[in-house]
Amino acid sequence: MATTTPIRESGLVDRGALEQKVKDMYRRVAKEPEGEFHFAMGRPLAEELGYPPADLDRIPRQALESFAGVGHFLGLAAIRPGETVLDLGSGSGTDTFLAALYTGPTGRVLGLDMTDEQREKAQRLARENGFHNISFHAGYIEEPPFDDASVDVVISNGVINLSAEKDRVFAGIARVLRPGGRLALSDIVTESPLPEKVKCDSTLWAACIGGAMQQDDYRGGITAAGLEMVAFQDNPQYRFLTDAAQAASRSYGVKSVNLLATKPE
Ligand SMILES: C[S@@+](CC[C@H](N)C(=O)[O-])C[C@H]1O[C@@H](n2cnc3c(N)ncnc32)[C@H](O)[C@@H]1O
Repeated sequence: MATTTPIRESGLVDRGALEQKVKDMYRRVAKEPEGEFHFAMGRPLAEELGYPPADLDRIPRQALESFAGVGHFLGLAAIRPGETVLDLGSGSGTDTFLAALYTGPTGRVLGLDMTDEQREKAQRLARENGFHNISFHAGYIEEPPFDDASVDVVISNGVINLSAEKDRVFAGIARVLRPGGRLALSDIVTESPLPEKVKCDSTLWAACIGGAMQQDDYRGGITAAGLEMVAFQDNPQYRFLTDAAQAASRSYGVKSVNLLATKPE
């Protein structure tokens, strides 16, 4: 296991240390997907989570190798031809590529990610495989660099738990969605609040556990940003791999959920 750097001092998250730890982890996910991680990855994971194999056959294989999502929410998203979709924390692009199949050439898909190696890999695969309606952007999900009311659907998979400023993420989503637009995502939440010792473990944070928010607070954050919750479902297919991750999951009810919310007209 990687060494653990403390990421909280006096109850505050050290944002710089956290960002570095998360980037280190997902740089490896992009470049060495065959390596050892706290979480499952790749096509076997996607199939277990419920992604239709026929759709997975239509996206670049190398994108799928680095898939590190935690659920299949694209059924809830119900993306339609011609829509504009924003994928927050797009990684190597599995959901971005699938969304582009669903929007068709009259729609477009924007991927946003802070880790250069993930974004560059996804951009190269889009170019090499003729996905002309996708663009990948550098930036932070806390301040999405897109216009107000410019997006029909925001999607995200296994990412918001990694942010130390989830309220800013939810506010940014509400800002970029057009009235009537949708948010559909999978993420990790908890049933009980996590103790400091778990939140302080930077490796568990980067593995999508340490930053997980209590589920009622997570829902409350989304509605406080002005969205209406339509569906919030447990996603029992998702399982953690290592002993430390499984122990946290058992003790605090760390789990994957799928949700759909809408921005009022
Ligand atoms: C668990 S991976 C999921 C990637 C992709 N959604 C998938 O399903 O394969 C998390 C991704 O979110 C990105 N990320 C984490 N925190 C971020 C932030 N605050 N702003 C932008 N990207 C972030 C990481 O670089 C990484 O690529």
